[in-house]
Amino acid sequence: MSDAPFRNPGWAGNTGGFELSEDQVRGDDFVGARSVEGDHPSTAATYPYMLADKHPEAPLFEGDFQARFEKILTRYPTKQAALLPTLGLAQEVRGHVGPESMDRVAELLGLSSAYVRGVATFYTMYNKAPVGRYLVQVCTNISCNLCGADDVLEAFLRYTDSEMGELSEDGNFTVIEAECLAACGFPTCVQINSRYYENVTPADVPKIIERLAAAGPGEG
Ligand code: FES
Repeated sequence: MSDAPFRNPGWAGNTGGFELSEDQVRGDDFVGARSVEGDHPSTAATYPYMLADKHPEAPLFEGDFQARFEKILTRYPTKQAALLPTLGLAQEVRGHVGPESMDRVAELLGLSSAYVRGVATFYTMYNKAPVGRYLVQVCTNISCNLCGADDVLEAFLRYTDSEMGELSEDGNFTVIEAECLAACGFPTCVQINSRYYENVTPADVPKIIERLAAAGPGEG
C-alpha cells in the first residue's frame, strides 16, 4: 500500500475556470449557518453547473474547457465511462445539452449518437433545451405537495410570467416541477440553479423573483 497521503481533490478535481479553492468548492462557509436567501445548513454550496454566461453555440471544447475535458478522460478507464462528466461539461459551456451537443460528445468519446442520447435523456439534470439564467425547480413530491407545493409552483409561473418549462420573456427564468429534492423536512423546497430555498410559501415568491431578476450575471 502506498504511503502517499489520501487526497480527495473534490468533485472531479474540478474547480473549473473559476479558480476556486477546495474550501470554496466544498462551500464550508455555508455549513452550519443558514443563509437568509436559501441554502440548507447541512449542505455545501455546490459548484455552479452552468456558467452565468452561456453560449449555446460554443465549441465543445476549447481552451480551459478542452484542458478540463482531457483531465476528465484521465480519471476513467474508458472513454465511455467519462460520458456523464463530459455531458456535464457540455452543459456548463452551452447551458443545455441538445441533440447537436449529444452528437459532438459522441464523436469526442467514440460512442454512437444513439447511445449518448439514450444516456443524456435518462437524466433530468441535463437540460435538453435552453433554460433561463435561473432554472427554478419546484419540488411537488409528497411532503412538499402536502404543504402547498402546487401553490408555490403556480406562484413562480405567475410571477415569472412563463409557462412550465418555457423561457420567460426576459430570458431570466425557466420554471419546472421536480421530483423529491431530498429536503422533505423543509417543504416546499425549491432549487434555483445550484441553491436550495426551503420552507418556501407563495408569499415568498415575489421577493425571490425580484431579487434574482435584479442580480447581475453570476450572482443570485
Ligand atoms: S418531497 Fe419535496 S423535498 Fe422531498
